[in-house]
Amino acid sequence: MCGIFGYIGTKDPLPICLFGLKQLEYRGYDSSGIAGLYGKEIVSCKEAGKISGLEKKLALKPLALDLAIGHTRWATHGKPTHLNAHPHFDRASSIALVHNGIIENYDLLREELKRDGTHFASETDSEVIVHLIAKYYQGSVLGALQRTLPQLRGSFALALIHRDHPGQIFATSRECPLCVGFDDARTEAIVSSDPNAFLATTPNVVFLRNNEIVKVEKNQTSFFNYSLVPLVKKSERIDSEFKALSKEGYEHFMLKEIHEQPATVQKALLGRIDQAQIHLDLKLSEEKLKQLRHIWLLGCGTSAHAGWLGTLLFEDLVRIPSSMEIASEARYRNPILTPDTLVVAISQSGETADTLAAMREAKRRGSSILGICNIKNSAISREADSTLYLNAGPEVSVCSTKAFTSQISTIALFALYLAKLKGMSDAQLHYYLDELEKVPGQIQQVLSRASELQAIAKKYAAYEDFFFLGRRYMLPTAMEAALKLKEISYVNANGYPAGELKHGAIALINERFPVIALCSNIQTHEKIASNLMEVKARGAPVLAFAPQGMEAVASIADDIFWLPPAIDPFAPFASTIAGQLFAYYIALERGCEIDQPRNLAKSVTVE
Ligand code: G6P
Repeated sequence: MCGIFGYIGTKDPLPICLFGLKQLEYRGYDSSGIAGLYGKEIVSCKEAGKISGLEKKLALKPLALDLAIGHTRWATHGKPTHLNAHPHFDRASSIALVHNGIIENYDLLREELKRDGTHFASETDSEVIVHLIAKYYQGSVLGALQRTLPQLRGSFALALIHRDHPGQIFATSRECPLCVGFDDARTEAIVSSDPNAFLATTPNVVFLRNNEIVKVEKNQTSFFNYSLVPLVKKSERIDSEFKALSKEGYEHFMLKEIHEQPATVQKALLGRIDQAQIHLDLKLSEEKLKQLRHIWLLGCGTSAHAGWLGTLLFEDLVRIPSSMEIASEARYRNPILTPDTLVVAISQSGETADTLAAMREAKRRGSSILGICNIKNSAISREADSTLYLNAGPEVSVCSTKAFTSQISTIALFALYLAKLKGMSDAQLHYYLDELEKVPGQIQQVLSRASELQAIAKKYAAYEDFFFLGRRYMLPTAMEAALKLKEISYVNANGYPAGELKHGAIALINERFPVIALCSNIQTHEKIASNLMEVKARGAPVLAFAPQGMEAVASIADDIFWLPPAIDPFAPFASTIAGQLFAYYIALERGCEIDQPRNLAKSVTVE
């Protein structure tokens, strides 16, 4: 799980490789490294930790390079150390290789290679690949790949260079994204896990399909299958937005992105509502959508929480059965998918391996797929039958904020669109659209009182355990709020159904275990008030996020943050912003690393 980048062309490969790796840092930041050819020598530099560390090292001792491959790692096999950092080399240092994915049979291959006398320098699964290629190399890298690749089980994208083949980068992929970009004049070429790491000068892209190999040279890219039969592949043009990423005066990207949400929610709606009707540029026919009988939502992490909210929205607004499955579970289920099931794959990055695999399996079973993604040209957006983009702009903080509120805005809009197709009256549609259009203002109201949340967060920052309780729409919202706190503050925080607590988990409650109650689901507000009495009676400090005027809660809670009122289906927005700010200020208070928390990656591209 990692980012791969390679460059060959007329410019100095070193700064370009560093730039590319930084664009791919969302895929992991446990270590990074660059290797290149200079004449007939392989030169390299790697460093544990973030790319900024590698950059500093290279600033002290730059590498002269004719071409380069680079890697940013999210550790799977082996600790995030210098030794396990990519690139990896064969014994003679004639090959340098970078790998994204997991080689499932690496231990068997490793034992075999060891028996042949191979010495391993790292604990990684990746290193077996480079030794196998070296073992089979007899003058042709393609020939060595042809013998190596069929032996590998699992998923991978890899790029390599060989000192006997100056001017060439070889790359291949199976179940992991990899693409090649080049300029119009064919003077430079890039290999990358993600086309969003391309340069403005390389707008032409070819995506590798499973089991394809590419040989990249300055003026030419040649594609082959595993039998080394040449393939003719068409390039596409991408319109990447090359904007320098800036914190715009905020201390962290996370805080900046939290504050962007009035605008990003508006952008998710922009151009999609006209004269009180919804216009979505869908590549799924209205006829097909009218006949839908089931919606199956897939996602991971924050996107899964958006999916859970989606099931409530589809049930309430469209009256259509829907279910949500965490993608890593979905891919191994035996789901009952009929032609009138729509699968909705939710992913900010559009690259998450579990979501992609579950979506592919659903597609194989004949379902239509709607992607809900932020990143254009991402794997999910390319493979889905139709994609609704979030238009939220790049989300840099690993801890997702604005993508979540854009996901629920987009899902809500799609639910209303479907509801109208299935017979919702104009009056009802207008009512919901009016309420949805109030959301940016509600978010703004919470943001304008961020300092109140900061003061509350200070009071709660020393606790190590939290429950976030909610009912109905507030349950996925509570789970998302708890996830924020876990991700950036490293404290134990559980999003839990308020009514379920008494069936076991209440045993954990004591005066060191605060309960954060998300009370904005009006339908159930009396019920959650009773649940708060139950935890209060057992000594838990209680903080409530409640809509203005909910006095029943005010008399129970130790602390309360008032939220602007909203109808139940759209109440998650304001509560989410409060949860994000609460987590942010606790992390700040605890001195945690906020934008790139330990052990995480923005997009996890391994299973
Ligand atoms: C990683 C990130 C999470 C994110 C999840 C799904 O685990 O750390 O913040 O929610 O992936 O990512 P996606 O890009 O598919 O929404």
